[in-house]
Amino acid sequence: MKKILVTGGLVFIGSHTVVELQKNGFEVIIIDDLSNTTINVLDGITEITKIQPKFVKLDLKNKQAVQTFFKNHKVDGVIHFAASKAVGESVHKPLKYYENNIGTLVYLLQEMEANKVTNIIFSSSCTVYGQADTLPITEKAPIKPAESPYGRTKQMAEEILADVSKVSNLNVIALRYFNPVGGHESAIIGELPIGVPQNLIPYVTQTAAGIRACLSVFGDDYDTPDGTAVRDYIHVVDLAKAHIVAMKRLLENKNKTKIEFFNIGTGQGSSVLDVINTFEKVNNVKLNYKIVARREGDITAAYADTTLANTELGWKSELTLEDAMRSAWLWQQKLIKK
Ligand code: UD1
Repeated sequence: MKKILVTGGLVFIGSHTVVELQKNGFEVIIIDDLSNTTINVLDGITEITKIQPKFVKLDLKNKQAVQTFFKNHKVDGVIHFAASKAVGESVHKPLKYYENNIGTLVYLLQEMEANKVTNIIFSSSCTVYGQADTLPITEKAPIKPAESPYGRTKQMAEEILADVSKVSNLNVIALRYFNPVGGHESAIIGELPIGVPQNLIPYVTQTAAGIRACLSVFGDDYDTPDGTAVRDYIHVVDLAKAHIVAMKRLLENKNKTKIEFFNIGTGQGSSVLDVINTFEKVNNVKLNYKIVARREGDITAAYADTTLANTELGWKSELTLEDAMRSAWLWQQKLIKK
């Protein structure tokens, strides 16, 4: 049984990926510093899969702790989620982002090298493309200057991984996620934003639940069919499955180059109003929303060309925006009960 280290394995995408890893017969060891989640997620994973993953509470900023971890645990591959991801916060606290997203990556790679762990899947983001000139976005689209320190950390991390893979045995797959949404169909795990949500879907579900009075739609004067911004909303369970396929590719030495990049999206663009309408329709709830000014730093439209992921990686999204909106609402209702 192959053993996979999942950093940030108790947060949104990480926890869904742990479930899929276990379903696929991998042994999982999670490290998480619990800065953005709770230990209850571990019980949730166990409830779904009936397998308790190993968990070590560890802050990757603690270089010595990372060294000790690798000394004590032999792993076959790493899926690296642990990072800070609030775009706005990164503008005000750039050093936090460089330390959390870059410093920790360096420590992780140093210990992987020292302990001959050669496979890593990295959580990258479509943010590396900025506002692409052509849609849908292929992996060949130019990397534009980042809009935020957060975005810059994703670009820099890709470059660091490329540099290291050039001169070592490291094999890398960087998955460039579009907008991950939804939750596990069991509603046992899902997205757990702390404080006021910055992202659209948790804001939608909290508004529907009455926790927020009104959803602000940021801008209806974009050059898009209905004037609101367009994104590619990928169901988190589909996204989790992409990590399994990618890890198997590395473990079976099927990767074509030392570092590979894949867009992980549906290929379908949806506007903010599409999201609202879909949410209302599938859940039969009314959402209180108003149009306000654009949010600074937002791009007009981004959706993936997924040809490479479909043909080369052998992965394709299966779930729909409807599925995602249903599971997100189920999860929100469960949270309220808790
Ligand atoms: C951002 C980041 C992305 C990151 C993702 C998840 C950029 C360019 N994008 O995506 O890299 O992976 O967050 O953390 O850095 N919206 C509203 N009202 C709201 C919230 C959002 O109208 O209350 C709109 C936004 O204007 C946008 C869409 O909904 O058009 C999606 O927003 P959001 O969920 O925040 O994701 P992105 O900004 O696309």
